Amino acid sequence: MALYSDKVMDHFRNPRNVGVISDADGVGEVGNAKCGDIMKIYLKIEDGVIVDVKFETFGCGSAIASSSMATELIKGKPVADALALTNKAVAEALDGLPAYKMHCSVLAEEAIKKALLDYYTKNDIPYDATVFADLDDCCHDD
Ligand code: FES
Repeated sequence: MALYSDKVMDHFRNPRNVGVISDADGVGEVGNAKCGDIMKIYLKIEDGVIVDVKFETFGCGSAIASSSMATELIKGKPVADALALTNKAVAEALDGLPAYKMHCSVLAEEAIKKALLDYYTKNDIPYDATVFADLDDCCHDD
């Protein structure tokens, strides 16, 4: 069996939603201290719906595929859906990742959460801090 699914290879070779949103409503950047990979997510939000999303990922193929799939999964969806997106759901949508590459999908979940936290903070929207408790440098502007 191939190490990577066809979907992982497709999203790695032809990543969707690559780029920057200059007037983004929320931006989230996270990094993995062990591998040094970095992921940045930009969200455009209107009336509680993610109308556009872009990403920049400096990282491995699984991180690029995870970013691409994660952006596809949240585009056009309510903010609450994006907040509930798990790295497992991203990996499942890619038809799986090797166990030792699951941490790459965690970057996607965390980058989206961080972008949403940025959106809530900038707009003075109350939020449940426990949802963001897992973020490495949670809850403070940096
Ligand atoms: Fe670093 Fe994949 S090896 S995110």
